[in-house]
Amino acid sequence: MSVLNTSISRIEEKSLLERILLWVGDDLKKVDLEFRRNLKSDVPIIAAIGEHLLLSGGKRLRPILLLLSARACGYRGEAHISMASLIEFIHTATLLHDDVVDRAELRRGMESANAKWGNEACVLVGDFLFTKCFSLLVENGNQKILRAIARATTLMAEGELEELIKTNDISLTEEDYLSIIVRKTAALFSAATQVGAILGEAPEETDAALANFGMDLGIAFQLTDDNLDYTSREEEFGKKIGIDLQDGKITLPLIFTLNQCTEKESAIIREAVESDPMTRESFFQVVTIIDKYHGVTYTLEKAREYVARAKEHLRHLSDSREKEALLSLSDYVLERKL
Ligand code: IPE
Ligand code: IPE
Ligand code: MG
Ligand code: MG
Repeated sequence: MSVLNTSISRIEEKSLLERILLWVGDDLKKVDLEFRRNLKSDVPIIAAIGEHLLLSGGKRLRPILLLLSARACGYRGEAHISMASLIEFIHTATLLHDDVVDRAELRRGMESANAKWGNEACVLVGDFLFTKCFSLLVENGNQKILRAIARATTLMAEGELEELIKTNDISLTEEDYLSIIVRKTAALFSAATQVGAILGEAPEETDAALANFGMDLGIAFQLTDDNLDYTSREEEFGKKIGIDLQDGKITLPLIFTLNQCTEKESAIIREAVESDPMTRESFFQVVTIIDKYHGVTYTLEKAREYVARAKEHLRHLSDSREKEALLSLSDYVLERKL
């Protein structure tokens, strides 16, 4: 199933994302082919898990960002295809590891790889994807790209660990939370857009503008993701709802609420965070408190601010179809349902 089919079946309306996907459709098909080619290994479980993830779709946001950024910087070659597929390789590796850490049962509307093959295999296949990515990068031999991607992967590991250490810690501040999401999510968005600029041999100012664009968009993306964990439906989001709270992951809707609510409400939240498994009743009690203090609205407002900042960075780029698509993609991050 192609990414286009996946998104059409999971959302009824003609979304912004679908229109963007149509613009980069051919390049994205090539990215998928390259991804599949690089998954080849004579160790069968690698291909099995890789195919499972490939077939389950995914929005391909990071490769799309890389493809569009490269073209927006005037790149006319074909190396952006393999770079985009490498970025998706890294994303896939981190999802495999993240689902083990988060004990996720569902990913992209399907049984998660860890639920199907177990934690051990997923950690090792994740490692395979990482190491394969770096061997492909070394072969391609661009130091600047290698540096950008190595930096992002280090930050991602730090972000995931920082989040793990802060599990169940309801004293987490908005600043701590931001530091986590910058590293675990936004760093890879930023690397994707910066690699596009590097391929396009953009001047330093444009390179920095695109890296900042990816960073701010990535922050907004994680903010909306953390809202959806409270507000979405499993069938639409393709992931289990309420899992952040269940796993003791303190995200912005909750941090904001905790800063406003009464001691009694704070105690209810603490109990829900610490309970394992969390009951439905306890989840809905917390949702009611978040609703009362508009924690989701606050988070969405923050996401809006980051999207506005992201768009502002694009003023350094001359007008093009691809720049338009990057602007639309920024709006999509606020509207997304999956
Ligand atoms: C999921 O990313 C991980 C987060 C950073 C929240 P995506 O929502 O981009 O995942 P797929 O690839 O589309 O499934
Ligand atoms: C997303 O982590 C960031 C990475 C995968 C590194 P989350 O745990 O917040 O994302 P989901 O909800 O599992 O997609
Ligand atoms: Mg997770
Ligand atoms: Mg996680």
